[in-house]
Amino acid sequence: MARPLDPGCRLVLASHNPGKLVEIRKLLEPWDIHVVLASELGLPEPEETETTFTGNARLKAQAAAEASQLPALSDDSGFCVDALHGAPGVYSARWAGPTKNFRAAMERVHAEAGEGGPRGAHFVSVLCLAWPDGHYELFEGKVEGEWLWPPRGTRGFGYDPMFRPHGETETYGEMDPLRKTATSHRARAFGALVRGSLGVPPKGESVVLSD
Ligand code: IMP
Repeated sequence: MARPLDPGCRLVLASHNPGKLVEIRKLLEPWDIHVVLASELGLPEPEETETTFTGNARLKAQAAAEASQLPALSDDSGFCVDALHGAPGVYSARWAGPTKNFRAAMERVHAEAGEGGPRGAHFVSVLCLAWPDGHYELFEGKVEGEWLWPPRGTRGFGYDPMFRPHGETETYGEMDPLRKTATSHRARAFGALVRGSLGVPPKGESVVLSD
């Protein structure tokens, strides 16, 4: 049994990515949790020095929990392409460079994976909930699908326009944001967190989480 998060508590969101913040805030809405952003507390963004999603998620959540003395939630996620043996993976943000040019990052995926090869790809999200006493819990979610070219749609962020989940006709770049928020890799990781540490929401669920 994971350690529960008390209703009504303050929770630091240890992420500086605006796209992820919108999704995680939406997911947390039904619980009476006061979400504080790491940036609002002036917390520095730690360097992601680990080579796994779980390692980086833990590093970010523990740094925020220690600095704020509040429970902290982080997400480490990425886009993994079969033909590239899982790349860009933990380096998904870095492939876009300092100017966060995701058009260039998507072009690199297309160029390196090649038109003729396998199209399989997935998004992964690992959420880490860490407490100031050093305790932490990890929750993982994954969505399988395929990459396509050219990218489609202007919604979402990052690699969204080049990824279509299995069973969907639209890419994440075309999909209604609420639908993506409710079914994404982050939603799945969040579902595990709900089952482990949050329980039934006091306000009723506004976002339907899928497994
Ligand atoms: P990090 O977890 O902050 O290291 O960054 C994860 C990176 O993975 C983001 O900057 C995006 O490039 C990519 N990524 C993660 N989740 C998504 C998503 O839902 N859509 C598109 N790209 C994503």
